[in-house]
Amino acid sequence: SESASSERYEECRTTADWLLSSTKVRPTVGIVCGSGMGGLAKLLKDPQVFKYSDIPNFPQSTVHGHAGQLVFGTLNGKPCVCMQGRFHLYEGYTVQKITLPMRVFKLMGVKTVFLTNAAGGLNQDYKVGDVMIIKDHINMPGFAGINPLFGPNDERFGVRFPCMSDAYDRELRQLARDVASELGYSDFLQEGVYCVLAGPSFETIAECRMLRNLGADAVGMSTVHEVITARHAGMRCFAMSLISNMSVMSYDSQEKANHEEVLETGRLRAKDLEKLVSTIVGRLEHN
Ligand code: 6GU
Repeated sequence: SESASSERYEECRTTADWLLSSTKVRPTVGIVCGSGMGGLAKLLKDPQVFKYSDIPNFPQSTVHGHAGQLVFGTLNGKPCVCMQGRFHLYEGYTVQKITLPMRVFKLMGVKTVFLTNAAGGLNQDYKVGDVMIIKDHINMPGFAGINPLFGPNDERFGVRFPCMSDAYDRELRQLARDVASELGYSDFLQEGVYCVLAGPSFETIAECRMLRNLGADAVGMSTVHEVITARHAGMRCFAMSLISNMSVMSYDSQEKANHEEVLETGRLRAKDLEKLVSTIVGRLEHN
């Protein structure tokens, strides 16, 4: 099992070295764009694009709305690497495989990771189009033994038992609230708890009620695995959910969750989200 963790390290090392020799950009900021939010990559200056299919050891994006490429460039003066499209458990990849890009980020010198996703709103005060700063998560697959850190620990990345009570950086959340208020976004800004499920089926009504009772404000199928891996490796994390639809909580409702609605809301709010992330990145002090 020593060799299993060493192989995983070497896999990430190979990918990072390939990328470092293919671009002059030395990113300190890593960005992961959720469904319908890949437009952020277009804000990068002097972009250099690598299709996932050309990058050694990288999985492929199989979901509509995810471009499947890695973009290097400068965002508001900060050297960035941006994933235009991410990987999910429901695509059939292992949780270790979907989080490989975080370790590659780490080996390339990334200090801070920004993640966006589309999520269903469980908190009844939320509206479609709201943006939720993630302040904490509930890792449902984790309870069933699906955690990216499962297996032998490689100390070159981080400790065996990493703390998760500070997973979503307090200073970055404060900065995000300040920036959102300056941009006039306060009306649709929320802060709450994100719950991840494996998907791909959406939640039943009973499941939505259960998750709400457990303290979740939004539900989705991503981000948490990446955050656990990034925190393990000592990178700061900031994540936001675009509330793309409200979860169905009542047996009287005729609403049905669907992927088209998720993408459509993304289109409506994408510009605001891009502006928010790029402004925050521009104000980072330690990058
Ligand atoms: Cl309603 N549920 C889940 N699990 N993921 C989502 C979603 C809902 N809306 C967007 N992504």
